[in-house]
Amino acid sequence: MTDLNTLESDVLAQVAAAGDLQALDAVRVAAVGKTGSISGLLKTLGAMSPDERKERGAAINALRDRVQSAITEKKASLEAAELDARLARETLDLTLPGPYRRKGSVHPTMQVMDEMVSIFADMGFAVAEGPDIEDDFHNFTALNFPEKHPAREMHDTFFFEPKETGERMLLRTHTSPVQVRTMVSQKPPIRIIAPGRTYRCDSDATHTPMFHQVEGLVIDKGIHMGHLKWTLETFIARFFETDAVTTQFRPHHFPFTEPSAEMDVQCDRSGGEIKIGQGSSWLEILGCGMVHPNVLRACGIDPDEYQGFAFGMGVDRLGMLKYGMPDLRDMFASDSRWLAHYGFSGFAAPNPASGLS
Ligand code: PHE
Repeated sequence: MTDLNTLESDVLAQVAAAGDLQALDAVRVAAVGKTGSISGLLKTLGAMSPDERKERGAAINALRDRVQSAITEKKASLEAAELDARLARETLDLTLPGPYRRKGSVHPTMQVMDEMVSIFADMGFAVAEGPDIEDDFHNFTALNFPEKHPAREMHDTFFFEPKETGERMLLRTHTSPVQVRTMVSQKPPIRIIAPGRTYRCDSDATHTPMFHQVEGLVIDKGIHMGHLKWTLETFIARFFETDAVTTQFRPHHFPFTEPSAEMDVQCDRSGGEIKIGQGSSWLEILGCGMVHPNVLRACGIDPDEYQGFAFGMGVDRLGMLKYGMPDLRDMFASDSRWLAHYGFSGFAAPNPASGLS
């Protein structure tokens, strides 16, 4: 047995001495590989008497197991050491200036969102949110879109694969489902805005498949269109930071409001740029109306007791108008040059007291 003991201490010493994974693997091959020293010993068993084989065989196998587990243990510790060394080697000194000293900036859409939230918060609105992935009930049915009504198609909806139940989830086509979620979970009086992402299968200079809206909802007793008009005109004047904004209501149709209107802002389009507060053109910026009694009923609110108004505006479009960005698609092209040009300082949080932008 001395030969086995010597072999074992030899191999174990080699395992202990292996300085890296490559050296350890060489030790492994030389000991327990196909033609290794321990494997060689196992091959000598065939020529032995059964009794001798039993005893020797057990001893050699036990030796092989001990060597194998020593190798496994050593491998783990070498790997850990290698990882530590790599982590130490690959540290990055974030305090060093990069080759391009470009500052991060706030995306114009987020800037405009912040401006809108700060104006509406000042007017007493709370912020509400809902999921981007909606169900048919919140996006359409509760908003008085009848089943199979063509108005559902108008929205160019992105649908998910139907579930086993046949139900199809969708990417919300507007922020109006947040109206429903709010009315279902909150008692009037309600005064909220709901900023968020919306999705429609559409792309050109003034449409992108993902865009942003801010929804507004007011529910109380005795609410009428005069309240809606004042709220929107006050918002527009504050947002564009001028009193010289002229707006007009145009009759429109939305299933969830009655009467419904779109609001346009007077602008000048001559010279390839859009200028607000002058000129003879009109640009549509939002949809609005008095909340339809069917919507109130679907949300458990008695339309004989409560009335309300709602509006939904395109955030990116308002940004284009205010900051003179000609193509909506550029806003989501992730071009850092565009961001460097149109972005805002992260330190200038908009508020109505110290200024918006
Ligand atoms: N949800 C409508 C749209 O996306 C806008 C809207 C909101 C109209 C609220 C009326 C009331 O087109």
